[in-house]
Amino acid sequence: MSNNLLKGKKGIIFGALDEKSIAWKTAQKCFEAGAQIVLTNAPVALRMGEINKLAEQCGNAPVIGADVTNMDDLKNLFEKSIEHFGGKIDFILHSIGMSLNVRKGKHYTEMNYEWNQKTLDISAMSLHKVLRTAWDMDALNEGASVVALTYIAAQRVFPDYNEMADAKSLLESVTRMFGYYYGVKKKVRVNTISQSPTRTTAGSGVKGFDGFINYAEKMSPLGNASGEDCANYCVVMFSDLTRMVTMQNLFHDGGFSFTGVTQAVIEQMEK
Ligand SMILES: NC(=O)c1ccc[n+]([C@@H]2O[C@H](COP(=O)([O-])OP(=O)(O)OC[C@H]3O[C@@H](n4cnc5c(N)ncnc54)[C@H](O)[C@@H]3O)[C@@H](O)[C@H]2O)c1
Repeated sequence: MSNNLLKGKKGIIFGALDEKSIAWKTAQKCFEAGAQIVLTNAPVALRMGEINKLAEQCGNAPVIGADVTNMDDLKNLFEKSIEHFGGKIDFILHSIGMSLNVRKGKHYTEMNYEWNQKTLDISAMSLHKVLRTAWDMDALNEGASVVALTYIAAQRVFPDYNEMADAKSLLESVTRMFGYYYGVKKKVRVNTISQSPTRTTAGSGVKGFDGFINYAEKMSPLGNASGEDCANYCVVMFSDLTRMVTMQNLFHDGGFSFTGVTQAVIEQMEK
């Protein structure tokens, strides 16, 4: 359904790997809402080629490779995007997460610290690097909106989320800190959306994901929010309807975050 909420806006979408990706669905929704977009992902992810299908669906959007931890790649991405759009950027989706310790099966208490540095760099400090690049190049329009995706393990313990809990806490802190400076400088908004567990490549990498997602479903009055629901929320956050919202962590989880227990979980426990 087109609503023209993003008519005339230009955005960069990080992190569309395949059609399960939250970024993939967000790109589609932004395009439907009238935006022009540039797609980007790590060069190794681009080699899968999937993203070209998405680019076609989104009005032949350019696909520009960038390792989000590499400042030269980011500079090149912003330069090429501004050239393509013929103007500055109105919105950015940071939809990136990767944990080396999770991937290699290391328990939190036995963390490999070199891998942990890489995890924090890719999953959290990369938001700083994206914002810093935009800041240095003055690449964003006044009132631009930046959204990064996070998870409630930043506030509460979900044991198998491992070091990603620390990464998400850092991501949310960067959101507040840079959000402050960019707000003062150019009325740029920076927020995180804290999404329900969602079946994607990154999501399914978490140990015990099936139990995890079913539990969240039962613990949420509205049920789990889907990737498509999240994409719709991103569109609203990129639109002018939310121009006074910044430095927030916005729960998008069907009510999970504020539910103590549900009847469905009590009944399960009584079995
Ligand atoms: N799936 C869930 O359950 C869930 C829940 C809450 C939040 N999130 C967050 O949503 C975001 C998107 O994840 P997703 O679930 O759509 O999974 P996904 O695997 O589809 O997306 C993760 C993306 O990060 C990209 N990436 C990894 N390293 C990179 C690098 N060095 N440079 C550039 N890109 C890199 C990957 O290529 C991939 O496109 C992540 O931040 C994730 O933590 C996911």
